[in-house]
Amino acid sequence: MTAPKTKVGILLSGRGSNMIALVEAAREPACPYEVALVASDKPEAPGLAWATDQGIATWSLSPKGIGKPAYEAALNSALRAAHVETIALAGYMRLVSDSFVGAWRGRIVNIHPSLLPKYKGLDTHARAIDAGDSVAGCSVHVVTEELDGGEVLGQAEVPILGGDTADTLAARVLEAEHRLYPKILAEFVAR
Ligand code: GRF
Repeated sequence: MTAPKTKVGILLSGRGSNMIALVEAAREPACPYEVALVASDKPEAPGLAWATDQGIATWSLSPKGIGKPAYEAALNSALRAAHVETIALAGYMRLVSDSFVGAWRGRIVNIHPSLLPKYKGLDTHARAIDAGDSVAGCSVHVVTEELDGGEVLGQAEVPILGGDTADTLAARVLEAEHRLYPKILAEFVAR
């Protein structure tokens, strides 16, 4: 008997390269999670189209016009209907409400492109370069009410090279994200 896999719901707003990394890792028989739903606040998100092409269940709804509470209620229903147990944010460019965090307490994780607690929020790569840092990186953390503030589950360091721009650094960090996120999510669902 193989152990049942944890059902993960992935939330994204854009290209979804981290989602793709999570989906590809989930294809390994030994992976302890499976992707039950890919959901988005952007019906036109490229990541959503990729997931649909792969035959993965998808859901999307724009909050525009209906407001955040109604949007999150619908999202919550979709996640519950897909029997999602753990939520992985992957480039989800929307702040989750405190009530959503409360409903999924300790079961939402996120990947953030900095070595937390440094550089919470946006423009992490430019801020690291401007600060003269020699090392950047990415973090997977538990989502709480505090922006990018929950328990750090794992990190990967990436060197900042002379001549790096925010874009060249972002590309190097993104490769590290794709290695880190599947590994940490697998550890998280198994703990
Ligand atoms: C990544 O850099 C991730 O760390 C941040 O948003 C970006 C999403 O990229 N939270 P992608 O959509 O996964 O390609």
